[in-house]
Amino acid sequence: MTVGIERLAVYVPAYALPLAALARARGVPPEKMTQGLGVEEMAIAPPCEDVVTMAASAGARLLRAAHVDPETIGMLLVATETGVDNAKPVAIFVHELLGVGRRCRVYELKHACYAGTAALMTAADWVRAGGGRPRRALVIAADIARYALGSPGEPTQGAGAVAMLVGPEPRALVLGEETGTYADNVYDFWRPIGRREALVDGKYSVECYLAALAGAFTAFRGAERPALRSDEALGDRLARMLYHSPFPKMAMKAHRRLVELDWRATERWAAVEPRLEEAAAASYRELVAPGLAAVARVGNTYTASLYLCLASLLETEGRALAGRRLGLFSYGSGCCAELFTGTVPADVAAVADAGVGEALARRTLIDVPEYERLTRDGEAGGEPPPGFSGEFVLHGIRDDRREYGRLRAALAA
Ligand code: CAA
Repeated sequence: MTVGIERLAVYVPAYALPLAALARARGVPPEKMTQGLGVEEMAIAPPCEDVVTMAASAGARLLRAAHVDPETIGMLLVATETGVDNAKPVAIFVHELLGVGRRCRVYELKHACYAGTAALMTAADWVRAGGGRPRRALVIAADIARYALGSPGEPTQGAGAVAMLVGPEPRALVLGEETGTYADNVYDFWRPIGRREALVDGKYSVECYLAALAGAFTAFRGAERPALRSDEALGDRLARMLYHSPFPKMAMKAHRRLVELDWRATERWAAVEPRLEEAAAASYRELVAPGLAAVARVGNTYTASLYLCLASLLETEGRALAGRRLGLFSYGSGCCAELFTGTVPADVAAVADAGVGEALARRTLIDVPEYERLTRDGEAGGEPPPGFSGEFVLHGIRDDRREYGRLRAALAA
């Protein structure tokens, strides 16, 4: 049975901090952030928005663009690692804000940045399990990445949400059935209850990411059907490779590792080894770089990061990629990883606009004092600042209850 992503929609906050300005304020050469990490700007969420409002804004845009009646959604999953309550799920607030019907399975998923993929796979399995019954799930990945001021993680913050309609008529991506998974209990990145900012063992987290990539890729390579010939690299069967991208340079490091693993597994390794760096760089330029444009301007969106890459790629290259196969790698600290593939359908052009370009074009660039004011006041809720582009706001918290509302009539999808 064909199952996959029918359409995507993206929400990105209306404010962005140029990394060159952050570097100057922290006394660091700007190139360390713009070249060393590959980030140009990071999206900043003001106090009136959180994962609920961002998820709802992405979801509303998606339902409108796809002309889907919210009553027909049978499963609503929200993946996040910046949840707003230890018991009440983000998904149930979103359920109300979007007017999704009562006959719906609704819950939140957490496994660091992997949860978006966990939700996508769960939704796809649920659609498959329906057999001939028409089932459609709404999956939303939303996060605000926050690290301590002045810490090495600070330039790898960001915020955003990606909503995906998962069903039997995929026009954005047909999911392959084989996947490669990997899990290991590691302390690379975590956020103890009560803390707003993540704790991270930065260099170790990069090692954990690469170890998980090796595990998931090796599992996937073995499961690939039809099986690879002894002289064949999996990369040769892929038009693009997308990675969970906390910062673009991480995707470059990941792809370098993947190319080496891929060729080492073939009988041509001895011939490839002397020119491995050259081959990996060329492969990165062709397969990976085209998918990183949005991440470089939004920063880390944790659960949504991989799907922001997908949405951005389809927007810029969808037509050219029709009929081609993409590889996707998802990593969540802690850790769990999954490598899977999908094929871009022939009629992708009709759904290739997820709103990434438009959202980025409308943003306001802010300076460091404004960034610190918006993110560190500790206030939740309030009036939207000038230029705010979300459809929903967090009014505030009263008696430990969060109060949300719709801010404006829907913009054209
Ligand atoms: N010009 C150009 N490049 C420069 C430079 C300059 N003047 N100065 C330094 N650089 C380069 C360095 O050479 C380095 O590049 P390589 O890694 O290719 O060698 C790069 O800039 C980073 O510099 P540092 O090695 O000094 O590292 P850092 O102290 O800036 O920390 C980090 C980098 C560990 C990634 C840190 O930003 C961090 O902790 N980030 C949060 C954790 C994270 O994102 N981990 C990723 C894997 S875990 C994951 O994926 C889950 C998740 O989303 C959190």
